[in-house]
Amino acid sequence: MADQITVFEVGPRDGLQNEKRPIATTDKISLVNDLADCGLRQIEVSSFVSPKWVPQLADAADVFAGIERCPGVTYWALTPNQRGFDAARAAEVSHVAVFAAASEDFSQRNINCSIAESLQRFEPIMAAAREAGVSVRGYVSVVTECPYSGAVSPDAVADVAAKLHALGCTEISLGETLGRARPDAVDAMLRAVIERVPAERLAGHFHDTDGYAIDNLDVALSHGLRTFDAAVGGLGGCPYAPGASGNVATERVVEHLHTLGYETDIDLDALRSVGRRVKALLSKA
Ligand code: HMG
Ligand code: MG
Repeated sequence: MADQITVFEVGPRDGLQNEKRPIATTDKISLVNDLADCGLRQIEVSSFVSPKWVPQLADAADVFAGIERCPGVTYWALTPNQRGFDAARAAEVSHVAVFAAASEDFSQRNINCSIAESLQRFEPIMAAAREAGVSVRGYVSVVTECPYSGAVSPDAVADVAAKLHALGCTEISLGETLGRARPDAVDAMLRAVIERVPAERLAGHFHDTDGYAIDNLDVALSHGLRTFDAAVGGLGGCPYAPGASGNVATERVVEHLHTLGYETDIDLDALRSVGRRVKALLSKA
């Protein structure tokens, strides 16, 4: 049987969070439903963050209220603090993600606190999640380079990833936020992380500014990672990573994985149609 890869769709969250033009809540709901129809089984729907920081996702609760919840599909939300976690629970979200960074500067710009403070903020979320049977994914951003302080050491990434793992995150997604890393940098980073966290608990999250995302994904595959984040249409970027472009496109990832002989259970033609629709929607928005 072919090796199975999990493609974790982050388009509705990472793809849309940086979009300045207004996008109707109903369009976001349709996007999530369409992605589930393509066979995606892990979908990051939105974030319960401050609407002053990320205005585009201020309708997270309404999006969650409007989507169809397909059996077998897991719908995720980002929750930076207890308040976000409580709002997510009120919206019947059962899978949340906390997000930390491997550089102090990015942590301050993105969530207005130090790395250590962010990990402390996650502790009550982890406790509440355990109590409620909620799974928590952890992100580490800027795993090779920070837009504010430059190169990030592999050990710094491994340290934050290991702490998120020790806190109880079921999966740690390694965010190459800027999309400028070359495969050798990703290789060095993964070697350090895998000494502290098993590869089966890791996901690769590659932005594609310089066009190396697929090469970086191949490096991660060679290290045993089997979960990859991607955004339909290659949408997105982080508001706190100036100059970074979108996530690697889900269509490209799925096509590449199928060419290599991996299974994803995703209908590539249907996914391409969703990609075209969402790009048309954004150009009209
Ligand atoms: P803060 O200003 O330090 O927090 O923000 P605060 O507790 O002082 O609150 C400030 C205001 O926000 C208050 O409102 C709070 O009520 C409100 P005010 O009194 O000024 O009217 N507030 C909230 N509102 C709604 N939901 C909440 C919430 N918390 C506070 N949960 C905070 C701290 C973390 C909230 C803020 O910095 C924030 O929302 N940051 C969001 C950052 C973000 O979403 N970044 C993008 C996602 S990360 C990413 O893209 C990278 C990733 O893709 C991986 C990769 O590529 O590397 C994951
Ligand atoms: Mg990202």
